Amino acid sequence: MTAVTPLFQTQSAIGDFTIRDVIEGQTAGQLIVAADDWGWWTTLLGGDTIAPTTGIQQTVAVGLLRAGFLTRRGHRYHLTHTGHDVGKNRGFVRCAVRGWEPTFRQLSSAAHDEYIPAATEAGEVARACTDIARRRPEIFAGIGQTIATDTPGCTIDLGCADAGRVQALAGIATQERFLGVDIEAEVIEAATADVAELGLAERITLLAGSVQPERQPPAWLAHVDRDSVTTAMSFFLLHQLASDGEGIAAVLRGWMDWFPNMRRLVVGDGYLLEADYWTQQPWFSPTYEIYHTITGVRLWTQAEYEAAYAELGWTVTRRMDDHTMLVTTILERR
Ligand SMILES: C[S@@+](CC[C@H](N)C(=O)[O-])C[C@H]1O[C@@H](n2cnc3c(N)ncnc32)[C@H](O)[C@@H]1O
Repeated sequence: MTAVTPLFQTQSAIGDFTIRDVIEGQTAGQLIVAADDWGWWTTLLGGDTIAPTTGIQQTVAVGLLRAGFLTRRGHRYHLTHTGHDVGKNRGFVRCAVRGWEPTFRQLSSAAHDEYIPAATEAGEVARACTDIARRRPEIFAGIGQTIATDTPGCTIDLGCADAGRVQALAGIATQERFLGVDIEAEVIEAATADVAELGLAERITLLAGSVQPERQPPAWLAHVDRDSVTTAMSFFLLHQLASDGEGIAAVLRGWMDWFPNMRRLVVGDGYLLEADYWTQQPWFSPTYEIYHTITGVRLWTQAEYEAAYAELGWTVTRRMDDHTMLVTTILERR
């Protein structure tokens, strides 16, 4: 694992959080996630209003109103401009509030440690990542159409979480078969049930196991027709595997060995940007950066990704940026 130098500095004038911001921000995060679990954001973003029916719901609605996310007409609530933005981006809130909480909690007993092992709520991170992806449907469409216009094959999603991306792509590339692999067996079990319920079990297979290339191939690979895989995708995982292993090219080389007929690669990940102060990073990334720094998981620059692609003979055919630092790249090779 490679040590990283924190990009942020201790300069108070840039941050300027008040005690109120700290406490209210934490509560707002909890209310946003609860409202999501009740389906409120889906309803509101769909253009409908909500009407709380219990005291608890009423309290949450008023909290969201006070935060500026909702307005009230009679007993019904609807979205404000800010509320629309928060609702669309609620995956980031879920990830920070619920998904990464076990990691941040460990800071209290880690004053003398070099790193804290990433300890996440796997189901929450999976759902958060799928929500983050769903807010940019045109990126899905770009990937899905690229796959759909090629000869049908098999697309593998390495680190597929709850298979939200695979499900969405299966709806666009309707002749393609999909494989998803994730290290979290419980997440895979729940996702397998979802896939069956959606009637997609014929086209989507999900397996539990690690996708980190090691000296010995992982056990799940024995259950896969390796020659059939033509596209490999991985979202928000390559940076971690590259940090834990021997860099980006080593991970990609491992996947290329596993799947000899792989002709397309789709990588979505956060790029490391240079900035003097952590608050100058794109909007959601201060926490993102702290999380990576304390766990020792590196973020990599665009130049580092591109050097690895070039080294292995991959050509970038499309790049889709999201908030500057989240980048999805489609690559091909002859
Ligand atoms: C940040 S999430 C991204 C999820 C999903 N790819 C997405 O973007 O929606 C990282 C995912 O990788 C999985 N993961 C972590 N290490 C892994 C490994 N060595 N092999 C397979 N999956 C892994 C986690 O369980 C988690 O679901």
